[in-house]
Amino acid sequence: MDSVTAFGPATVSNVACGFDVLGFALASPGDEVTARMTESGVTIDGIIGDGGRLPLDAPRNTAGVAAQALLNAAGERRGVALTIRKGLPLASGLGGSAASAAAAVVAVDALFNLRSTIETLVTCALEGERIGAGSAHADNIAPSICGGFVLVRRASPPDIVRLPVPAGLTAVVVHPDLEIETAMARTLLGDTVLLTDAIQQWANLGALVDGLHRGDFDLISRSLEDRIAEPKRAPLVPGLAIIKRAAVDAGALGCSLSGSGPSLFALCRDRADGERVARAMEAAVRAEIGGDVQTYVSSVAPHGARVVPTCAS
Ligand code: HSE
Repeated sequence: MDSVTAFGPATVSNVACGFDVLGFALASPGDEVTARMTESGVTIDGIIGDGGRLPLDAPRNTAGVAAQALLNAAGERRGVALTIRKGLPLASGLGGSAASAAAAVVAVDALFNLRSTIETLVTCALEGERIGAGSAHADNIAPSICGGFVLVRRASPPDIVRLPVPAGLTAVVVHPDLEIETAMARTLLGDTVLLTDAIQQWANLGALVDGLHRGDFDLISRSLEDRIAEPKRAPLVPGLAIIKRAAVDAGALGCSLSGSGPSLFALCRDRADGERVARAMEAAVRAEIGGDVQTYVSSVAPHGARVVPTCAS
């Protein structure tokens, strides 16, 4: 086998009350990375779909760094050339750097038949995330690799807890015509939080985990509140409170920023609610922000990054 292609799904991280520790995978969209075997080192043959904005220099590219980390971890002296197809918009809050890193490690793992553990894949992809997002948080990487809804009890070494997904739970993600760099959005957060906010945040997180286990949609709804990051980032997304209100009024269990934004996600009881909430959020985004809106309605995808057929282009 000369080359292998893998798909890394988009992810919603934070999920309101789980800053840096909670995330889930969407069925689509996502990024694809093709790894082709070479004699040594990591190079990037090309990037499609980024408008020429991402670095072709492997040590500065999230997929390149992740691939090199896995080759190093495996003691593999041969190398890879990567081709990256960006299905995710840049700086969208959909976990684009994580999707590329996850796809890269899964492609390299399959190419060399390494059979790496999930922990090794997460650890190596996290090195890519560190370059791409400026911080080694695993709440996008872990769901992009594992699929499903996951809690990152610890990023390094990884301790990933898979959470159940209640039947019917549907995610809506709306991407407004804005870009927010995660590294910049993290500078807004400062180093400390109020104890009263921390208390409410960990109460919400514990309750959300319990709500997922018991399929208690009312408890999930009450728990989808971010007291730590969203209040500081709200000024980055015009009309955020109005868009959130529109989602809840249309029947969403809750709505918050996806990752560091600008995308917003909502969780819904079922697909029909999801479709209705999606239309309401789209209308609110058009009214408050304008420009193009991309909308995704998806179940929480049970599968993470995986090998797919290599397409011709
Ligand atoms: N937890 C991260 C943040 C996700 O909110 O900064 C963004 O990549």
